[in-house]
Amino acid sequence: MGRSIPLQRFDDMPVMAPHIFQEHDNQPNPNIIRLNLNENPLPPSPDAIAAMHDAVNITNRYPDHSCSALAQIISARIGISTDRLVFGNGSGEMLFAAAAIAVDRNEQAVLPGPTFAPVGKNVRLAGGKVVTVPVLENGSNNVDAMLDAVNEHTALFYLCTPNSPTGGLLDAEQIKLAVDKVPSDCLLMVDEAYHEFAAWEGGPDVLSLLAPRSGPWAVIRTFSKAYGLSGARIGYAITGNRDLAVGFSKVRIGFNVNRIALAGACAAMRDQNYLEMVLDTVSCERQRLSLELENCGLRVYPSAANFLLARTDSSSDAISAKLAERHILVQALPWPDENGSLRITIGTAFENDIFLSALTKTL
Ligand SMILES: Cc1ncc(COP(=O)(O)O)c(C=O)c1O
Repeated sequence: MGRSIPLQRFDDMPVMAPHIFQEHDNQPNPNIIRLNLNENPLPPSPDAIAAMHDAVNITNRYPDHSCSALAQIISARIGISTDRLVFGNGSGEMLFAAAAIAVDRNEQAVLPGPTFAPVGKNVRLAGGKVVTVPVLENGSNNVDAMLDAVNEHTALFYLCTPNSPTGGLLDAEQIKLAVDKVPSDCLLMVDEAYHEFAAWEGGPDVLSLLAPRSGPWAVIRTFSKAYGLSGARIGYAITGNRDLAVGFSKVRIGFNVNRIALAGACAAMRDQNYLEMVLDTVSCERQRLSLELENCGLRVYPSAANFLLARTDSSSDAISAKLAERHILVQALPWPDENGSLRITIGTAFENDIFLSALTKTL
């Protein structure tokens, strides 16, 4: 008997792309309202669209693997040298890289629960174990309890602020605590996929809080959310030192960030007015949606991101299935109790109105 591939190792890992995401002719179905993926409901900046159009003409050439033009723009904004920035095919690739470089077989990662699910999967693929520490009542990471879970096998300490799916933001004190107390041989990773929304709401400056840390750290950011470039796939890691950046970079696949995404990201970063319009729109709609959901009897977690998590008095699975029958997609989660909760992305005012009217009928 020859050796067979031990696929059963993956039996309890979810398949990423259920049929619900399938698109005919690569176009999102215009009859479906997608409030389930924390996408930006607005298109990217017109400047970004124009830059991506131009880039299409030179796709016979591989892109700049070092992403130097974008690295320079970001470096000038955040005051961190370009050799500490690493770019990925979405920030998801950088989360994968972090587990691959930090976690060895039988080491462990301390994660909040619930949080962005692929992080735990990455740790397991690296051969490590996941220790999950429940989030606080307000949905933010419980740093004190996470620190209590650290032991000599802890190789990765993952914070997510605002946390997905709960939306809770860490305050400066909590981040400082992690900076001081996470052991200096453990990678402190802060996932700021929703950074621009959090900063708009006056959230703490995570990078300056991390600066004094003696041990390794990395911050993960993306163009998928506030910049509206989910479909282009580009994100990045900001690392505490150059050696760590080299480690992240070695895990990248060659030319992982495509030319179109790079052009779009550069132009999007230069169009600050458009970004501010997006942030203001999402913030206003989030406040309105939150009030309306509470009026419908749902309990809504505080959120500094482009989504809300709401608890219901009946099965969230059943509610999301009924909404899906009306062509509205939201994410049902099996947390914090048997009814679960609904994670609802902030859509346009028009989409949110349709969702609210369907939800009222559903409830
Ligand atoms: C917390 C968090 N991190 C990372 C990601 C990955 O985003 P992307 O790979 O599109 O950059 C997401 C996407 O939803 C997220 O919610």
